[in-house]
Amino acid sequence: MPRKAPTSIFLIFLCLLLLAFYSLLLSRSAISLSPTHLRFRPRNLTARYDAPDSFNHVIREDINELTHRTRLVTSIPGPVESVSVLLPNWEVLVLVSQDTPLTSNLGVGGFYCFFPRNETSPANFSGVLPFTGATTFKCTLPNRNRRLQPFHQPVLTRFPERETNVISAAPGMPRWDFLAYECFSTETDVVLFVKGVNNRQGINKSPEEFRCVFGNDIKNAVKTPVTSSKQEVFRCLHPNLMELSISPSTTAAAKRIKVSIEINREKLVVPSVAYYTPPRRHMPSNPNPTSLLCATTMVYNVAKFLREWVMYYSKIGVDKFILYDNGSDDDLERVIKELDEEGDYNIERIFWVWPKTQEAGFSHSAVYAKDSCTWMMYVDVDEFIFSPSWLKNSSQPSKTMLKSLLSISSNGSIGQVSIKCNDFGPSDQKKHPAMGVIQGYNCRRQAEQRHKSILLLEAVDHSLLNVIHHFDLSNNHYNWKELPLEAAVINHYKYQAWPEFMTKFRRRVSAFVADWRTRVNPMSKDRTPGLGFQPIKPEGWENMFCDVKDDRLKLWTKKWFGSQTPQGLKMAWQL
Ligand SMILES: *[C@@H]1O[C@H](CO)[C@@H](O)[C@H](O)[C@H]1NC(C)=O
Ligand SMILES: *[C@@H]1O[C@H](CO)[C@@H](O)[C@H](O)[C@H]1NC(C)=O
Ligand SMILES: *[C@@H]1O[C@H](CO)[C@@H](O)[C@H](O)[C@H]1NC(C)=O
Ligand SMILES: *[C@@H]1O[C@H](CO)[C@@H](O)[C@H](O)[C@H]1NC(C)=O
Ligand SMILES: *[C@@H]1O[C@H](CO)[C@@H](O)[C@H](O)[C@H]1NC(C)=O
Ligand SMILES: *[C@@H]1O[C@H](CO)[C@@H](O)[C@H](O)[C@H]1NC(C)=O
Repeated sequence: MPRKAPTSIFLIFLCLLLLAFYSLLLSRSAISLSPTHLRFRPRNLTARYDAPDSFNHVIREDINELTHRTRLVTSIPGPVESVSVLLPNWEVLVLVSQDTPLTSNLGVGGFYCFFPRNETSPANFSGVLPFTGATTFKCTLPNRNRRLQPFHQPVLTRFPERETNVISAAPGMPRWDFLAYECFSTETDVVLFVKGVNNRQGINKSPEEFRCVFGNDIKNAVKTPVTSSKQEVFRCLHPNLMELSISPSTTAAAKRIKVSIEINREKLVVPSVAYYTPPRRHMPSNPNPTSLLCATTMVYNVAKFLREWVMYYSKIGVDKFILYDNGSDDDLERVIKELDEEGDYNIERIFWVWPKTQEAGFSHSAVYAKDSCTWMMYVDVDEFIFSPSWLKNSSQPSKTMLKSLLSISSNGSIGQVSIKCNDFGPSDQKKHPAMGVIQGYNCRRQAEQRHKSILLLEAVDHSLLNVIHHFDLSNNHYNWKELPLEAAVINHYKYQAWPEFMTKFRRRVSAFVADWRTRVNPMSKDRTPGLGFQPIKPEGWENMFCDVKDDRLKLWTKKWFGSQTPQGLKMAWQL
């Protein structure tokens, strides 16, 4: 049968070809997520909208596909399923779902972002998101890719050299300034954090213009009305889980429900990396007893300042500290651990990676901590509240001190207490004072500036609206009390020794304050008088902002937190 030989050779060849093709398909399936059902209307909007497919990039409900892919990821060291967001300064935030194992003895190390044109950059581990459990990495968008619009999501891999150029099929990359980024479920509704919908000048669109969209698949998505739309905070009703057709047998992974908002008029769903968690049916009795007074602050690389701040406030009555950590890469973790070991400090660190979201972070903490804290103090780590009466009295610090400020007599019930700030200057310091800021800085400006607040969480308005300095209170029910300077004041160590000041002002955190190098709003109170748009030390910085010598807190803390050692005075927070 000589005539059959070529046919069988051909068949064998065909089989091999198919096999090769199939294995290629398999190895790609971990990244080339089939464009799914959730389609967005073709649009021609502004550049920031150019991430149409990202909303449904991560999670699919088909459990078979998911376990299949997971197996692939573990067996071949191929790319890791991820979703990416473009941050400012060409940084790319890569999120890997909690359900995707990053198996390797390398832990979270050794990863790269692989971009079109075979460009790669190291993907550095950034942190684990507290509410979705997603592991995050940051990489830089390579120069050559910055002109390649639309931007494609990179592939996260340990072996970029094994990747080929097929990545151009990767979905578009959403940008941080138009994104649903966090979600929190209360017992009664859903709080969703969305950037780029309401504008920064405080013009908030009406809730009727939106709907919340739950689900990974537009055909089965469930939409609920929005009840509040202020700044980046949207509230909407819980979806009916039955409608989401999640069977009880589905795994946790597939139960993850993406959530975003839809702009009704444009039929546009905002790209999202936020997930919905259903309300717990029976709220378990709170394992931690409620704290009367907690403190929330947003931090970035403040390890050096934390001990003094925590030890001071703890002594005068703060029971619990919640730090929203914007990706610190200093020793914060270690300092928190040391404090925990040394004393009975209750410090919670929440990894909060979203840029320019201080207000939203504060709103988040107002709902997040509602079950565990009665009052919430919102001050920065360079701000120290005291009452002049504590000093006169030469009384020892006590846990009742701050709390006594909250019960100052008033007609109705107090929902928020605000305290004015005195801004301190460099006080002739050239570097960070070893004994801490209270001992180091004692010369300040004459007039008090602004205020910070302690909020009764129960009193906060439904919108969770805040301007960092204070919150809106729910209508007329609660009073807002601003304390006179005689009752309480904040020492704000704002203009520190030049190296500290420069570092801090390079990173403005509020959503509504311009970058200090940007030539807008030159007269704003947020700007530093005498400081231009360049990080150059103004002449005579050491003695600027020094109208009044104010030693009050310095002397009091020296007495109660200082001790004499053979090396001289040592403060409790000095190691
Ligand atoms: C898309 O936008 C560009 C520039 O804004 C405009 O020139 C073009 O006509 C638009 N295309 C469509 C289909 O609207
Ligand atoms: C990327 O690398 C692959 C394999 O190494 C190669 O075949 C391809 O031509 C490269 N593409 C570019 C744009 O350099
Ligand atoms: C990642 O780490 C490397 C090495 O430390 C550094 O050069 C690079 O800038 C980092 N990338 C990002 C996006 O932070
Ligand atoms: C967080 O840090 C980034 C720089 O890494 C900065 O651009 C951003 O404004 C910061 N955001 C907050 C809320 O602190
Ligand atoms: C001194 O402290 C006590 C208790 O700490 C307080 O009751 C009293 O009002 C204080 N006196 C002054 C003058 O502030
Ligand atoms: C109490 O309420 C009355 C009338 O509303 C007002 O005149 C008075 O100033 C209030 N007192 C305090 C301490 O707030």
